[in-house]
Amino acid sequence: MPVTFIRGDITKLNTDAIVNAANNELRGGGGVDGAIHAAAGNELYAYCKTLGGCPTGEAKVSPGFNLPAKYIIHTVGPVWRGGAFHEKTLLTSCYLRSLELARQHKCKTVAFPLISAGAYGYPYDAALQIAYDTCQRFLQETKADMEIFIVLYQGKRSLNTNRHRTTHFERFDDSDFLRVARYIRDNYHFSAEEPESEETSLAEDSVLKSAEKKLEIAPRSKTRFQMAGKPLAEKHEMKSAAAGAKKQSLFDRIFSAKTRPEAPPPTDERTANRNSPFSGKLNLKDFPVEETFTQMLLRFMREKNMSAPELYTEACLDRKLFSKIQSNPDYQPKKYTAVRLALALQLSPAETDALLNTAGYALSRSKIPDLVISYCITNNKRSVWEVNGMLEDWGLSTI
Ligand code: APR
Repeated sequence: MPVTFIRGDITKLNTDAIVNAANNELRGGGGVDGAIHAAAGNELYAYCKTLGGCPTGEAKVSPGFNLPAKYIIHTVGPVWRGGAFHEKTLLTSCYLRSLELARQHKCKTVAFPLISAGAYGYPYDAALQIAYDTCQRFLQETKADMEIFIVLYQGKRSLNTNRHRTTHFERFDDSDFLRVARYIRDNYHFSAEEPESEETSLAEDSVLKSAEKKLEIAPRSKTRFQMAGKPLAEKHEMKSAAAGAKKQSLFDRIFSAKTRPEAPPPTDERTANRNSPFSGKLNLKDFPVEETFTQMLLRFMREKNMSAPELYTEACLDRKLFSKIQSNPDYQPKKYTAVRLALALQLSPAETDALLNTAGYALSRSKIPDLVISYCITNNKRSVWEVNGMLEDWGLSTI
């Protein structure tokens, strides 16, 4: 079963359960909590009083009352305090505990907002990544027969007050958004992560253990829920491809009228980088390995008949920075500077991979912003503003 991104207001969803980003007292508040309480009605306030609050990282369940959803799962995310206060562990735990409760209540469809990504200040990209990773891992580990939706919400206020954003929202219609969602779903790859610090791992262990005790589920080995593991990743890829082929998801059923199948990229546009979203073979003859980043950049610039001012303007780069790159054959760019230059040169996926490789980079299949960028490149949206528009459309940081 896939994890699917959808856009909209979670209170309108007809899933078995929706998840609420609540506070410790479960007394209602602003944001999604306010919207859920307003839509569910006063009975929800009364019921929540009987639940005795909820610790951060844990979850409690209530009926949906006036909502289309049968259950509301209330979970309390961490307040972002810079990242050293076990925020990641606690946020991961919110998703796990909510999913465990959903499973206990035999929910087949569950929708999450991005917990902690609003009033609690968790950096949006990281919150999105944790949401996706944890839900995917849950499905993979438990084999639960459950469809999970991550709801990305764009409130009216930010649309009206941010002209820049409004422009991009007008440019990118829903079908674009859904195509990127499908691209992420189909291409996401779990790669090995650096282990967390011992302190964080111990905290995660204790959160998981105490929850396991409460939920009376069998204790799992510490490594089972680590966000890593290559063999698991390979298994996951095979399984999700098979599952995708076997069954039409709810996502497809809801949105099939709006979406069109995408043509596969031409074979000559594939590369050999295993972690790159552009799968296939890199023809080394075309990209001599001795070339440095600067040398390859300047070669592409000549081949594409671009002048230096054209290139740095298209790449939204400072002229001085560009002349530093130009004059130093061993210049080491930042990753997204290299990506901006690749976009400005209108490079193909294979050429983009090759240019990034000279600087030691790749667009990762395990990072959602990189998947959005690679979607754009594969689909000929090769200007910095177009890519940034798409990233903004997803609420992600621009490059
Ligand atoms: N549907 C889906 N998502 C929504 C909706 C909605 N109707 N309304 C807001 N969101 C999104 C926000 O855009 C954000 O990305 O939910 C995410 C979480 O934001 P918050 O609701 O602010 O939740 P959080 O950051 O976890 O803060 C929780 O806010 O209102 C209080 O009582 C709540 O104290 C708690 C705190």
